[in-house]
Parts: sequence; structure tokens; C-alpha cells
Amino acid sequence: MISTDIHLAAKFLKNEGVVGIPTETVYGLAANAFSENAIRKIFDIKKRPTTNPLILHIKNYEELLKVGTDIPEMAHRLAKAFWPGPLTLIVNKQKHISNLVTAHQNTVAVRVPNHPLTLELLNTIDFPLVAPSANPFTRISPTKALHVDDYFKTKIAMVLDGGSCSAGVESTIVGFNLNQPIVYRLGAISIEEIEKIAGKVTLLNAGKTKTTTPGMCKKHYAPSTKIILTSNILQELNHWKEKKIGLLLFQQTIPNVQLIHQKILSPEGDLKIATANLYNSLHELDTMNLDLIIAERFPDEGLGRTINDRLTRATKK
Ligand code: TXA
Ligand code: MG
Repeated sequence: MISTDIHLAAKFLKNEGVVGIPTETVYGLAANAFSENAIRKIFDIKKRPTTNPLILHIKNYEELLKVGTDIPEMAHRLAKAFWPGPLTLIVNKQKHISNLVTAHQNTVAVRVPNHPLTLELLNTIDFPLVAPSANPFTRISPTKALHVDDYFKTKIAMVLDGGSCSAGVESTIVGFNLNQPIVYRLGAISIEEIEKIAGKVTLLNAGKTKTTTPGMCKKHYAPSTKIILTSNILQELNHWKEKKIGLLLFQQTIPNVQLIHQKILSPEGDLKIATANLYNSLHELDTMNLDLIIAERFPDEGLGRTINDRLTRATKK
């Protein structure tokens, strides 16, 4: 069921139900973070291994002090700069935060989402929400209420409809080594923006860490259709010319390919707009019964890095 009724959503959540919620990044699958019964439902519905920790969604910066401890000064600074917004901070957890949320780690991921309906919802209830992206494990994250409804139907109580997600890609996740920020997952805030506040940051290398982070899984964010990522679209088109092909392009269409099979992410070349359109365009191409999606590699700067990261993961089978 899709609805805009915040009070109904709050009622379901208070009764340990699972509700699809809008955020500025992607839709989340939300449950009461203080109820293990409710949290378990999320793992079941998403078919997500319980070794993958969840993000706590809190209503404001002050709540961070109630769920985290020994918070580095840099975390405060980043929170003040970007919250509410698409930045997730990894801090030491307080004892009362369930191991089911953190996958038995002593850290917890926390953010204040920047969406008016969800902020109002968080202000209506007296507990934080755990909310992974509202897609089955490894599938494309949803950026519209309809995507969530299509994925889960009656398995969830309702989807709170907050329109299309404005950022369109998951939050940037930042952890700390003492006071030094480490980017765990590229996301809706570019490295350059983080560095304006924090100075030089380190990027966590998937191969070098024990931390379980599905954002770091090789295969993730994948459509059902096979996808390849390239800097040379014409060469790939030539190579696969017998196939029914869809194109995911940055600015310009390619001649001699049916226009309905071409998705242009931003004709004006704006990386923010391209990011906002990325998952929706992948969802659309995925419904077209194509043999193959050929995606154009983005400039490796700003949000272009985030887009390349997601497209690279989507190519892994
Ligand atoms: O934009 C977002 O972050 C969306 C919306 C709904 O808020 N949520 C989202 O959640 O992307 P999810 O569960 O799909 O991704 C959460 C990521 C995972 O990669 C998880 O491993 C990581 O956060 N994570 C959570 N807790 C962690 C921790 N304590 N240490 C390291 N990584 C953690
Ligand atoms: Mg996810």
C-alpha cells in the first residue's frame, strides 16, 4: 500500500511493522531500532545477511549523543556541516544499541535524513529507525514509492510516498581512525565536498578491510539485465550489434539507436542531476526486455566517482 499518511506510518512502526520511507537519497525499509523483533523483519524481507549492519536514522544532531559515544571532534564538525543530509557517520555505539543493528561491531552508522515527511515521522515517534535501502539484497535501490511497492508488495505494511528522491544515490559513509575521516562508501556527497570541511580523507579499500560493508560488495545495485561499463560506447555497440541494446549515457544520444532505448542522465552535463536520474533510468531500462545495457563511464571527479562506483558494481555478476 502506498500512502502519504505519516500517522498511519507511525502506527505501523510503533507496532513493530516495516514501512518503506522516503529519504533524499533512496527509499529505506524502516523499523523501530529499539525492537529486535522489528529489526529481524527487515533482514527477512530484504533477504539480507545479518552480518551486514544497518544505518540508524535519527531526527536531529542532538540524538547522536544518545546512540554514540567517544564521538571524534571531526564527526561533530561533519554532522554540523551536512545534517540533515546524505552523510552517514560511523561512531562507537552506546551499549543499548542492539547487536542486530551493528552486526556485533562496537560501532554504529548514524544519519539524519533530509526529507520533510521522514523528519516529521521521526518527530512523531520516540525511537530512531533502522533503514537499509528498500531493495532486495544486491538489487537496484528504489528512488520512487512505486519501486518499493513493486519489490515488496504485501510483505511490508506500507510505503510512505514522498515523491522522487532528490539525490538519487545512497549516503556517503564516513568512519574515523581517531579524528581522521575514512570514506567507507562513496555517495551523494562528493569526496571534494567532504574534504572542504575535513581536509584530506582516506578512501577505504575493499580488499584491505575486515569490516562487513555491502556497499563494498563487488556485486551490488544490479539490474536483472546484463550491464557493461565503457568509455567507448561506439566500439561496444559495434561489438554487440546483433543484440537488443539499451544505452545509459551522460549527455548525448547516439545516432542509429532507437531513442526509447537511450537514457540520457543530464543533457546539461550536471553530475548532480545525472546522479539523481541514475537508478530510475536503470530501473526503466531493466523493464525493457533488453539483452544488454551499455553504460558510459563518467568523468572520475565529484559525483562522477560515485556514479562509476555504482555502475562498476552493477556490472558484476
Ligand atoms: O542513503 C542511505 O544511506 C540509505 C537510506 C535509506 O538512508 N540507506 C542505505 O542503507 O544505503 P544500506 O543498508 O543499504 O547500506 C548501509 C551501509 C552498508 O554498506 C553497511 O555495511 C554500512 O552501511 N554500515 C552500517 N553500519 C556500519 C558499521 N558499523 N561499520 C561499517 N559499515 C556500516
Ligand atoms: Mg543498500
